[in-house]
Amino acid sequence: MNREEIEQTLILIKPDALKNSLTGYVLSQLSEFHTGLRFAGAKIVHVNRMLAEEHYAEHRGKPFYPSLIEYIMGMIHYPDDPGRRRVIALVYQGGDAVNKIRDICGPTNPHVARERRPGCIRALGTVVPLKDAAGNDIGERMDNLIHASATLGEAEREIKLWFRPADFPPFMRSFPTEMNEDDHYYFRGGRLSTEHEPGGVCLVAPGDVLWKSDADALRSLRRGEPAPASLGAVAAKYLINYEAER
Ligand code: RTP
Ligand code: MG
Repeated sequence: MNREEIEQTLILIKPDALKNSLTGYVLSQLSEFHTGLRFAGAKIVHVNRMLAEEHYAEHRGKPFYPSLIEYIMGMIHYPDDPGRRRVIALVYQGGDAVNKIRDICGPTNPHVARERRPGCIRALGTVVPLKDAAGNDIGERMDNLIHASATLGEAEREIKLWFRPADFPPFMRSFPTEMNEDDHYYFRGGRLSTEHEPGGVCLVAPGDVLWKSDADALRSLRRGEPAPASLGAVAAKYLINYEAER
Protein backbone atom coordinates (compact mmCIF):
# COMPACT_ATOMS: atom_id res chain seq x y z
CA MET A 1 0.00 0.00 0.00
CA ASN A 2 1.50 3.37 -0.84
CA ARG A 3 1.79 6.18 1.70
CA GLU A 4 -0.89 8.32 0.08
CA GLU A 5 -3.51 5.59 0.37
CA ILE A 6 -2.94 5.24 4.10
CA GLU A 7 -3.00 8.94 4.97
CA GLN A 8 -5.21 9.24 8.05
CA THR A 9 -6.96 12.12 9.82
CA LEU A 10 -8.79 12.51 13.14
CA ILE A 11 -12.35 13.80 13.24
CA LEU A 12 -14.34 14.66 16.36
CA ILE A 13 -18.08 15.12 16.09
CA LYS A 14 -18.42 17.64 18.90
CA PRO A 15 -21.12 17.83 21.61
CA ASP A 16 -23.10 20.57 19.82
CA ALA A 17 -23.49 18.30 16.78
CA LEU A 18 -24.76 15.48 19.00
CA LYS A 19 -27.12 17.81 20.87
CA ASN A 20 -28.56 19.09 17.58
CA SER A 21 -28.90 15.59 16.11
CA LEU A 22 -26.52 16.42 13.26
CA THR A 23 -24.47 13.22 13.59
CA GLY A 24 -26.12 11.46 10.67
CA TYR A 25 -25.78 14.55 8.48
CA VAL A 26 -22.07 14.89 9.29
CA LEU A 27 -21.42 11.20 8.66
CA SER A 28 -23.15 11.33 5.30
CA GLN A 29 -21.02 14.36 4.32
CA LEU A 30 -17.91 12.36 5.22
CA SER A 31 -19.08 9.15 3.55
CA GLU A 32 -16.94 7.20 1.11
CA PHE A 33 -19.37 8.22 -1.64
CA HIS A 34 -18.58 11.92 -1.06
CA THR A 35 -14.94 11.78 0.01
CA GLY A 36 -13.49 8.51 -1.30
CA LEU A 37 -12.22 7.95 2.26
CA ARG A 38 -12.80 4.97 4.54
CA PHE A 39 -13.37 4.50 8.27
CA ALA A 40 -10.30 3.18 10.04
CA GLY A 41 -11.39 3.75 13.66
CA ALA A 42 -14.40 4.93 15.67
CA LYS A 43 -15.32 5.38 19.32
CA ILE A 44 -17.81 7.19 21.58
CA VAL A 45 -15.83 9.16 24.17
CA HIS A 46 -16.76 10.84 27.45
CA VAL A 47 -13.93 13.41 27.25
CA ASN A 48 -12.08 13.89 30.54
CA ARG A 49 -10.09 17.03 31.33
CA MET A 50 -6.70 15.45 30.69
CA LEU A 51 -7.68 14.36 27.18
CA ALA A 52 -9.29 17.74 26.42
CA GLU A 53 -6.23 19.66 27.59
CA GLU A 54 -3.82 17.43 25.66
CA HIS A 55 -5.92 17.69 22.51
CA TYR A 56 -6.09 21.50 22.61
CA ALA A 57 -2.63 22.07 24.18
CA GLU A 58 -1.73 24.61 21.45
CA HIS A 59 -4.48 26.95 22.72
CA ARG A 60 -3.49 26.91 26.42
CA GLY A 61 -3.37 30.46 27.77
CA LYS A 62 -5.70 31.99 25.16
CA PRO A 63 -8.81 33.81 26.47
CA PHE A 64 -11.18 31.27 24.93
CA TYR A 65 -9.22 28.23 26.21
CA PRO A 66 -11.26 27.50 29.39
CA SER A 67 -14.53 27.60 27.46
CA LEU A 68 -13.01 25.50 24.65
CA ILE A 69 -12.12 22.79 27.20
CA GLU A 70 -15.62 22.91 28.72
CA TYR A 71 -17.11 22.76 25.23
CA ILE A 72 -15.22 19.66 24.09
CA MET A 73 -15.93 17.99 27.48
CA GLY A 74 -19.66 18.49 26.82
CA MET A 75 -20.16 20.68 29.90
CA ILE A 76 -21.57 23.58 27.86
CA HIS A 77 -24.21 21.60 25.99
CA TYR A 78 -25.09 19.16 28.78
CA PRO A 79 -24.52 21.17 32.01
CA ASP A 80 -26.93 19.05 34.07
CA ASP A 81 -26.55 15.71 32.36
CA PRO A 82 -22.99 14.32 32.53
CA GLY A 83 -24.24 11.04 31.10
CA ARG A 84 -24.85 12.69 27.73
CA ARG A 85 -21.45 14.38 27.46
CA ARG A 86 -19.86 12.60 24.52
CA VAL A 87 -17.99 13.15 21.31
CA ILE A 88 -17.66 10.69 18.43
CA ALA A 89 -14.00 10.19 17.54
CA LEU A 90 -13.32 8.90 14.03
CA VAL A 91 -10.27 8.17 11.93
CA TYR A 92 -10.71 8.35 8.16
CA GLN A 93 -8.17 7.00 5.74
CA GLY A 94 -7.31 7.54 2.10
CA GLY A 95 -5.53 9.80 -0.38
CA ASP A 96 -5.26 13.45 0.77
CA ALA A 97 -7.50 12.63 3.78
CA VAL A 98 -6.39 15.64 5.89
CA ASN A 99 -7.11 18.28 3.25
CA LYS A 100 -10.29 16.64 1.96
CA ILE A 101 -11.90 16.55 5.40
CA ARG A 102 -10.77 20.08 6.36
CA ASP A 103 -12.35 21.29 3.16
CA ILE A 104 -15.72 19.70 3.92
CA CYS A 105 -15.62 21.12 7.47
CA GLY A 106 -14.96 24.68 6.24
CA PRO A 107 -13.62 27.73 8.12
CA THR A 108 -13.24 27.62 11.93
CA ASN A 109 -15.66 30.51 12.56
CA PRO A 110 -19.26 29.55 11.63
CA HIS A 111 -20.05 33.16 10.58
CA VAL A 112 -17.12 33.08 8.15
CA ALA A 113 -18.14 29.59 7.05
CA ARG A 114 -21.66 30.80 6.15
CA GLU A 115 -20.26 33.81 4.30
CA ARG A 116 -17.51 32.09 2.33
CA ARG A 117 -18.48 28.42 2.12
CA PRO A 118 -22.25 27.97 2.36
CA GLY A 119 -22.92 24.23 2.43
CA CYS A 120 -19.85 23.29 4.47
CA ILE A 121 -20.46 21.53 7.81
CA ARG A 122 -19.36 24.46 9.99
CA ALA A 123 -21.84 26.78 8.25
CA LEU A 124 -24.39 25.12 10.59
CA GLY A 125 -22.48 26.17 13.74
CA THR A 126 -22.91 29.12 16.12
CA VAL A 127 -20.70 31.78 17.72
CA VAL A 128 -21.23 32.65 21.39
CA PRO A 129 -19.83 35.87 22.97
CA LEU A 130 -17.64 35.26 26.05
CA LYS A 131 -17.49 37.59 29.07
CA ASP A 132 -15.24 37.60 32.13
CA ALA A 133 -16.57 37.69 35.71
CA ALA A 134 -16.87 41.50 35.49
CA GLY A 135 -18.97 41.28 32.31
CA ASN A 136 -16.25 42.50 29.92
CA ASP A 137 -16.03 40.97 26.45
CA ILE A 138 -13.13 38.50 26.24
CA GLY A 139 -13.80 37.00 22.82
CA GLU A 140 -15.98 34.30 21.35
CA ARG A 141 -16.63 30.60 21.65
CA MET A 142 -17.02 28.94 18.29
CA ASP A 143 -19.42 26.03 18.43
CA ASN A 144 -18.45 24.60 15.07
CA LEU A 145 -19.73 21.02 15.30
CA ILE A 146 -16.62 19.19 14.12
CA HIS A 147 -12.87 18.96 14.60
CA ALA A 148 -10.52 17.79 11.86
CA SER A 149 -6.72 17.49 11.98
CA ALA A 150 -5.05 20.49 10.35
CA THR A 151 -1.84 18.86 9.05
CA LEU A 152 -0.33 15.40 8.61
CA GLY A 153 1.84 15.94 11.68
CA GLU A 154 -1.14 17.02 13.78
CA ALA A 155 -3.12 14.03 12.49
CA GLU A 156 -0.43 11.66 13.75
CA ARG A 157 -0.27 13.35 17.16
CA GLU A 158 -4.06 13.41 17.51
CA ILE A 159 -4.69 9.85 16.31
CA LYS A 160 -2.09 8.55 18.77
CA LEU A 161 -3.68 10.68 21.51
CA TRP A 162 -7.20 9.28 21.05
CA PHE A 163 -6.58 5.75 19.74
CA ARG A 164 -4.54 2.66 20.69
CA PRO A 165 -3.20 0.35 17.98
CA ALA A 166 -5.76 -2.27 19.01
CA ASP A 167 -8.58 0.18 18.13
CA PHE A 168 -7.72 -0.32 14.43
CA PRO A 169 -8.05 -3.37 12.22
CA PRO A 170 -4.51 -4.79 11.81
CA PHE A 171 -4.01 -3.49 8.28
CA MET A 172 -5.22 0.02 9.14
CA ARG A 173 -2.47 1.02 11.58
CA SER A 174 -0.51 3.84 9.96
CA PHE A 175 2.19 4.34 12.57
CA PRO A 176 4.91 2.02 13.88
CA THR A 177 3.95 -0.21 16.80
CA GLU A 178 5.93 -2.25 19.29
CA MET A 179 5.13 -5.06 21.72
CA ASN A 180 5.79 -4.08 25.32
CA GLU A 181 8.53 -6.35 26.65
CA ASP A 182 9.06 -4.16 29.75
CA ASP A 183 7.22 -4.21 33.08
CA HIS A 184 3.64 -3.18 33.63
CA TYR A 185 3.11 0.58 33.48
CA TYR A 186 0.57 2.11 35.88
CA PHE A 187 -0.92 5.60 36.10
CA ARG A 188 -2.09 7.11 39.37
CA GLY A 189 -2.72 10.75 40.25
CA GLY A 190 -0.74 12.08 37.29
CA ARG A 191 2.29 9.85 38.01
CA LEU A 192 3.80 6.86 36.21
CA SER A 193 4.75 3.73 38.12
CA THR A 194 5.84 0.19 37.35
CA GLU A 195 4.41 -1.07 40.66
CA HIS A 196 0.71 -1.40 41.30
CA GLU A 197 -0.65 0.81 44.08
CA PRO A 198 -4.31 1.08 45.20
CA GLY A 199 -6.18 3.23 42.67
CA GLY A 200 -3.51 2.79 40.00
CA VAL A 201 -4.69 2.06 36.45
CA CYS A 202 -2.67 -0.35 34.32
CA LEU A 203 -1.85 1.42 31.05
CA VAL A 204 0.22 -1.28 29.40
CA ALA A 205 1.06 -4.86 30.38
CA PRO A 206 3.83 -7.08 29.02
CA GLY A 207 2.73 -8.44 25.65
CA ASP A 208 0.50 -5.45 24.83
CA VAL A 209 1.03 -3.75 21.46
CA LEU A 210 1.47 0.03 21.72
CA TRP A 211 2.55 2.89 19.50
CA LYS A 212 6.34 2.80 19.23
CA SER A 213 6.48 6.51 20.14
CA ASP A 214 4.53 5.73 23.35
CA ALA A 215 6.91 2.87 24.19
CA ASP A 216 9.86 5.26 23.76
CA ALA A 217 8.12 7.92 25.88
CA LEU A 218 7.31 5.48 28.70
CA ARG A 219 10.92 4.26 28.84
CA SER A 220 12.23 7.86 29.01
CA LEU A 221 9.61 9.00 31.53
CA ARG A 222 10.38 6.01 33.73
CA ARG A 223 14.05 7.05 33.80
CA GLY A 224 13.09 10.69 34.43
CA GLU A 225 14.54 11.74 31.06
CA PRO A 226 13.00 14.12 28.49
CA ALA A 227 10.41 12.18 26.49
CA PRO A 228 8.97 12.59 22.96
CA ALA A 229 5.44 12.78 24.46
CA SER A 230 4.07 13.88 27.84
CA LEU A 231 2.72 11.29 30.25
CA GLY A 232 -0.75 12.78 29.70
CA ALA A 233 -0.51 12.25 25.94
CA VAL A 234 0.48 8.60 26.44
CA ALA A 235 -1.97 7.84 29.25
CA ALA A 236 -5.09 9.65 27.97
CA LYS A 237 -6.07 7.00 25.40
CA TYR A 238 -5.92 4.26 28.04
CA LEU A 239 -8.20 6.24 30.38
CA ILE A 240 -10.90 6.93 27.78
CA ASN A 241 -14.26 5.92 29.26
CA TYR A 242 -12.47 4.51 32.30
CA GLU A 243 -15.04 4.45 35.08
CA ALA A 244 -12.80 5.83 37.85
CA GLU A 245 -11.90 8.88 35.76
CA ARG A 246 -15.42 10.38 35.84
P1 RTP B 1 -10.41 22.36 15.29
O1 RTP B 1 -9.01 22.22 15.85
O2 RTP B 1 -11.49 22.26 16.37
O3 RTP B 1 -10.65 21.44 14.14
O4 RTP B 1 -10.57 23.84 14.69
P2 RTP B 1 -9.56 24.63 13.74
O5 RTP B 1 -8.32 23.82 13.48
O6 RTP B 1 -10.34 25.10 12.57
O7 RTP B 1 -9.21 25.87 14.65
P3 RTP B 1 -8.14 25.99 15.81
O8 RTP B 1 -7.41 27.26 15.63
O9 RTP B 1 -7.35 24.73 16.00
O10 RTP B 1 -9.09 26.17 17.08
C1 RTP B 1 -9.60 25.06 17.82
C2 RTP B 1 -11.00 25.40 18.29
O11 RTP B 1 -10.91 26.48 19.21
C3 RTP B 1 -12.00 27.36 19.02
N1 RTP B 1 -11.48 28.68 18.65
N2 RTP B 1 -11.97 29.80 19.12
N3 RTP B 1 -12.42 32.53 19.70
C4 RTP B 1 -11.45 32.22 18.89
O12 RTP B 1 -10.73 33.05 18.39
C5 RTP B 1 -11.23 30.79 18.60
N4 RTP B 1 -10.29 30.30 17.81
C6 RTP B 1 -10.43 28.97 17.86
C7 RTP B 1 -12.87 26.76 17.94
O13 RTP B 1 -13.91 26.00 18.56
C8 RTP B 1 -11.93 25.87 17.19
O14 RTP B 1 -12.62 24.80 16.57
MG1 MG C 1 -7.19 22.87 15.02
